[in-house]
Amino acid sequence: MKIIEVKDYQQMSKKAAEYIIDKVTMLPSIKLGLATGGTPIGTYKNLITDHQKNGTSYQKVTTFNLDEYVGLSSEDKNSYSYYMKDQLFNHIDIKQANTHIPNGEAADFQIECNKYEQLMTEHGGIDLQILGIGSNGHIGFNEPGTSFASKTHTVNLAPSTINANARYFNRLEEVPTKAITMGISTIMQSKEILLLISGESKRDALFNLMNGPVNESSPASVLKNHPNVTIIADEAAVSLIRMESSMEND
Ligand code: F6R
Repeated sequence: MKIIEVKDYQQMSKKAAEYIIDKVTMLPSIKLGLATGGTPIGTYKNLITDHQKNGTSYQKVTTFNLDEYVGLSSEDKNSYSYYMKDQLFNHIDIKQANTHIPNGEAADFQIECNKYEQLMTEHGGIDLQILGIGSNGHIGFNEPGTSFASKTHTVNLAPSTINANARYFNRLEEVPTKAITMGISTIMQSKEILLLISGESKRDALFNLMNGPVNESSPASVLKNHPNVTIIADEAAVSLIRMESSMEND
């Protein structure tokens, strides 16, 4: 895993956007795996600014999102489908038909999960997957304990994840408790992974990822087994790693 350290959230967002723009320019028909949440919002803003100023085109790009809440329609402001349109898709020239997000209102979730996997396979798999990380080490909505062999599946969200996501809802009771997510093995199949980590609340997660063992109680630890992972992390997120290594050097 390669780690790029940057000063703060703004720098992380700028660097991540530059990274993605380079890839889109080199491979205009790239298949991107996308994340939601707070972390990539700044990156998406930079992609939009670049599209408007420099004309980077997404007409041939195909996207697959990591996850979606179960029970929210795509019109619901808290759905990830709405988020993606609001934060990115409505502001660039991507074709809506080329954007894919699991259907949180599917009549049969097993069929929906299988269909999503099949669709990714038909497109030749994901070239570059953007990831954030939960403070408990989750990637996508694969909570601690998820099998490394998992494909797209439905999950019960961990209480810590529900609490973390409550900031977007009026009341804790409104936060969905289930989601549909790419599995760990789905994520690991992408050719390249870009993991974005910002803020003090993620410093334990990054520390465990870098220094802890690879096992299912720490979902992100699986990334150590992937041949092409780049992490862009800011000073607040790397602070614990730095503290430890300076203590080792004393
Ligand atoms: C989002 C996702 C999650 C988030 C993670 C961090 O699509 O799959 O794994 O990346 O929960 O969320 P934020 O960025 O809000 O801290």
